[in-house]
Amino acid sequence: MSSQALPRNPAEQDSTICTLEDVQSEFFKDRALIVVSNRGPVTFHPVEGAEEVAEADEDELTYEYGQGGLVTALTGLCHYADVTWIATADTEEDLRWHHGTVPMNGDEIRIKFVEVEPTAYDRYYSMIANPLLWFLQHSMWDVPRAPVINQKTWRAWEDGYVEVNRGFAEAIAEVVREMDAPPLVMLQDYHLYLTAKFLREELSDEAEPTIMHFVHIPWPGPEYWRILPPAMRTAILEGLCSVDIIGLQTQQDKMNFLRTCRALLPQAEARFKRARVWYNNHATHVRYFPISIDVESLLEATESEKVAAERERLERVIGDNQLILRIERIEPSKNVVRGFQAFEEMLELHPMHRGKVKFLALLVPSRLGVDEYESYLEEIMAVVGRINANYGARDWEPIRIMIGHNYLRGVAAMQRYDVLLVNAIADGMNLVAKEGPMVNEKDGVLILSERTGAREQLESGALVISPCDIYATAEALHQALTMEEEERKSNAEHLRWLIEREDISGWLCRQLKTVIDLNL
Ligand code: G6P
Repeated sequence: MSSQALPRNPAEQDSTICTLEDVQSEFFKDRALIVVSNRGPVTFHPVEGAEEVAEADEDELTYEYGQGGLVTALTGLCHYADVTWIATADTEEDLRWHHGTVPMNGDEIRIKFVEVEPTAYDRYYSMIANPLLWFLQHSMWDVPRAPVINQKTWRAWEDGYVEVNRGFAEAIAEVVREMDAPPLVMLQDYHLYLTAKFLREELSDEAEPTIMHFVHIPWPGPEYWRILPPAMRTAILEGLCSVDIIGLQTQQDKMNFLRTCRALLPQAEARFKRARVWYNNHATHVRYFPISIDVESLLEATESEKVAAERERLERVIGDNQLILRIERIEPSKNVVRGFQAFEEMLELHPMHRGKVKFLALLVPSRLGVDEYESYLEEIMAVVGRINANYGARDWEPIRIMIGHNYLRGVAAMQRYDVLLVNAIADGMNLVAKEGPMVNEKDGVLILSERTGAREQLESGALVISPCDIYATAEALHQALTMEEEERKSNAEHLRWLIEREDISGWLCRQLKTVIDLNL
């Protein structure tokens, strides 16, 4: 680990760092934007006290904005362009509201919800997108046992994933037809792999939009994709080879995508040097755009009184202990159980930390309708119970878990950690690894899995571990807890520098600049 040698900016492959102001006038002169994702930027609810929810009219609906960098970045574009966001309806109220505009940072955004029949949604989200594609792309299959692709899976594919993707394409086509000029369509993530192909079919006789697809999760090589039946993997690759630009998180993902097309899509011509795939007389440009965080609004959040109050509450829990922190969705790919096992191994190898270090895990419930997620929480609770029973004392609880979604508590905890543990089995990027160092006030050490996208950018300021290696993780925890102040300080400064120079607007800007540079 060296904080002196500054790595080359991995995003410079496509264009240099730019700001939205640089591209806006050129880009949005005559072009509108359609963003498409499974989850929308707002969710509607009945206003408190509305009696008959089913009969409430529009005045009795209220909405909340979605959190996260993606919503902030994409909605920030409303300032420069006419933006429509298409997503599935999450609540009954979303369905009832259906489409319209909502205010967004002083501007307006148009939103259109796609209505999906509940059984089809369950098949698409809980049977294909999350257990199958998410597990595949995060290398989480235990191949002798999983996946089991049976009749039910095929039905979920045909009547769920394919159908919902077709529904998205129809909804996008309707919006495109209302526009004066072909827009830029930005598809997001693994829920929508087939949408672009259906959209091209829908609009075959009309002026076609430019289509980008950004994949937020890792893209493994063809060895892994080959486990998926040929009809499914071909449909996915054909869908993605219908877009003009596919954006991935890292250089490695980009190479893997090109390799996958070359190995598994007959008749495709994948050119590595030009980072381009030709298929059916259409060129798809393959690029990587590492996603980042909204540094400004994160730093603004640290100033809030609510964060200060959360911090006070947390201080009472942490006491004089050093703090190891992890924050994430309750998600098997995050490798929470091995993180606790590593902590246990550290207490065995280095008993000096007993009674002096606390491990705090802030965990957010996620995808509980999917079996694998429900049982994972049980596994986490079992290992924590065992470690606390074996090592805890009257005045020392080794591990504390807090479950729930509380963003400001997360910010407060990130200010306070001595060690931030990110040991994911695989992760597209991992934004906690970028948020933590930006707000931390203790020159805390980042322990980072080599299988996170963030590793390509942050490894020169972090302790990098192999996620299955509990012993190495235990030693890294010990090294982090005992690191000299000077080294911690210079690493922390270096991490802040790396993160600050490439925040979320840079991610977006590089994508738009690529469209301009390619003349699309
Ligand atoms: C990841 C995915 C996103 C997804 C998010 C939350 O970050 O890349 O597409 O929205 O997890 O998952 P959920 O299933 O709750 O939408």
